[in-house]
Amino acid sequence: MAPSTPLPPGPRLGLSRILHARDPLFDVAALAQQYGDPMTLPMIGASPMVLTWEPAGVEAIFKEDPDTFVPALPEGAAVIAGEASVFMTAGERHKRVRKMLMPSFHGERMRAYGTLMRDAALRTAAAWEVGRPFRFLDATQAVTLDVIIEAIFGVSDTERMRRFHAQIVAAIASFNPLVMVFAALRHDFMGLGPWARFRRDYDAIRAMVFEEIAARRADSAGRTDVLSMLVAARDEQGEGFADQEMFEQLFTLVLAGHETGAASIAWACDLVHRHPAVLARLRDELGPLGPELDPAVVTRLPFLEAVCLETLRLYPPIAIATRKLRRPFTLRGHALPAGTTLGALAMLAHRRPEVFPEPDVFRPERFVGRTYSPFEYFPFGGGNRRCVGAAFALYEMKMLLATMLAHHRLELREDTPPRNVVRAATFGPEGGVPVVLTSRVFAPS
Ligand code: HEM
Repeated sequence: MAPSTPLPPGPRLGLSRILHARDPLFDVAALAQQYGDPMTLPMIGASPMVLTWEPAGVEAIFKEDPDTFVPALPEGAAVIAGEASVFMTAGERHKRVRKMLMPSFHGERMRAYGTLMRDAALRTAAAWEVGRPFRFLDATQAVTLDVIIEAIFGVSDTERMRRFHAQIVAAIASFNPLVMVFAALRHDFMGLGPWARFRRDYDAIRAMVFEEIAARRADSAGRTDVLSMLVAARDEQGEGFADQEMFEQLFTLVLAGHETGAASIAWACDLVHRHPAVLARLRDELGPLGPELDPAVVTRLPFLEAVCLETLRLYPPIAIATRKLRRPFTLRGHALPAGTTLGALAMLAHRRPEVFPEPDVFRPERFVGRTYSPFEYFPFGGGNRRCVGAAFALYEMKMLLATMLAHHRLELREDTPPRNVVRAATFGPEGGVPVVLTSRVFAPS
């Protein structure tokens, strides 16, 4: 047997312990200081993870031949994402799925969604009452889900949207992450228990999506939703997605796009309200646009864009882009065996003072008129697994933040900035950013 090469140094403390700690960034930064790049962290029930955050390490991962890797998700993640999901597949299968998905998310196509994003934000905000506190994150979660239902599934009838919304929330809420790890929990106890409940909710949303797929197959003329594009998508053999495969891709888009977008917009709201000069500059940019907020104009505003990019720098909702090695690979001089998990650590890379002076300070100006290399700044990951919805997500972040800020005066309820904590699979602001509406800028239409 070949001698096993030691992995790069690292603590005995497991990754999940650190990510769930009081201040994950502080802990990771302290360990990085101690062990250097790359460092290894143990993981419960899985092979250790080797983390890198220096551009050379991140570049090595993102530029490597995709066949070196498989997804780092546990096999049980297929329970919710589906076996054919772009999340779960590797090699040729993954390439095929991405090729069929990507055209729907091309930057050019986003124009079709700007108005519906703005209107979804206004619909949710119509329920806010002056003087009554609420969690801004609850609002952004509701809106990002409505946007997905309308832009991706093409459902715009109010009653059906409401049913979709409720059923997706139920399916996600009834999913117990432990079933991903422990197959023994995937048992139905005579129709009772968490697994049975999840299956019921999941099957209900599946049936509803199948109805939409059938409707689009019958007629998708003149429609701009992602589902209509996917119905027409063909691979190199001229084959389209089968219904189940299509459902799995669509449900993956919900899982990938809902929490991430909602957390980022909530963070942006918190940050701009803690930085009055930033808020004032943003209002100066938005003010002349009036209540209608033309998406073609809004999404080109340089300071709004800088605010969004700076928020994603400080608080990338997916803090680590992960891969698992299916063959040996050398990372910055360290020979790593097949089976090792690799992680490009955005959380730390985004705070390297060499690239981002005073890295802990929220300073959107650093993104005005300048860009960073994809190995220094990568909130959407990189390489062949870079976020499919990156253009959609940034477009949405700009439209929803602009609409909510241009139409309303909000105040934060907490003096202390929230902690950045792991919720489900992503990071977000603890407490959900409690705010209060102090006034409306325009009369609701
Ligand atoms: C601010 C919002 C978002 C952020 C920060 C974000 C970030 C990310 C990151 C870091 C990855 C992993 C990339 C890698 O491993 O290199 C990813 C993957 C993915 N994202 Fe996003 N995402 C966001 C919103 C969305 C939206 C709105 C959608 C779709 C509607 C979406 C769809 C996907 C998909 C399908 C993948 C898997 C790609 C693959 O494995 O090939 N994301 N995202």
